[in-house]
Amino acid sequence: MPPLTLTRLRPMESRDLELVLGWRNHPEIRRYMYTQHAITLEEHSRWFERKSIDPDFHLLIFEAEGCSLGFINIHQIAAGGIADWGFYAAPDAPKGTGRRLGQAALHYAFAEAGLHKLCGQVLAFNESSVRYHLALGFTQEGILRHQHFDGQRYHDVVCFGLLASD
Ligand SMILES: CC(C)(COP(=O)(O)OP(=O)(O)OC[C@H]1O[C@@H](n2cnc3c(N)ncnc32)[C@H](O)[C@@H]1OP(=O)(O)O)[C@@H](O)C(=O)NCCC(=O)NCCS
Repeated sequence: MPPLTLTRLRPMESRDLELVLGWRNHPEIRRYMYTQHAITLEEHSRWFERKSIDPDFHLLIFEAEGCSLGFINIHQIAAGGIADWGFYAAPDAPKGTGRRLGQAALHYAFAEAGLHKLCGQVLAFNESSVRYHLALGFTQEGILRHQHFDGQRYHDVVCFGLLASD
């Protein structure tokens, strides 16, 4: 019998708060985010309370074979269906999870949410995410030089975009 390959996205709920916070605070995820301090459950809960009622935000959990394996945040930033996305796979997720998460996110963004463009901003030293965006079909649209200061150093930010028509 072939292995089950069932994936889905579902809205993040308050029961996911601790799981998602554990992923977000993991050193291998945190180091690639704009804010790199350890987030408290209180701060995380306040963030969720605000964003989960904001219609411009889609906070989603990626599930594969019934297990929660990643988080996706799609944020409509401009009229006409233009959105930013952010995401991370669970640190202990099997190799290949990112690709499946990305495919599910793109299907959701274009086929379900009806977006026109999805944009990703990646810290230039995050080579996995740069390669990942290219592998998903994103176009590199620019580099914002020294756009992020981490308290010690400036980092370039690589901008990616994918159109529904791509
Ligand atoms: C980015 C992330 C989702 C990729 O997840 P993953 O499960 O490792 O991804 P996959 O195994 O499905 O790999 C998909 C593609 O990503 C890229 N990639 C993943 N890991 C990589 C690595 N260590 N080095 C280079 N490219 C890598 C490759 O293009 C890969 O395709 P390939 O295997 O055909 O070369 C995951 O590493 C993650 O959550 N990182 C931390 C959070 C983060 O950086 N989020 C994005 C902020 S912009």
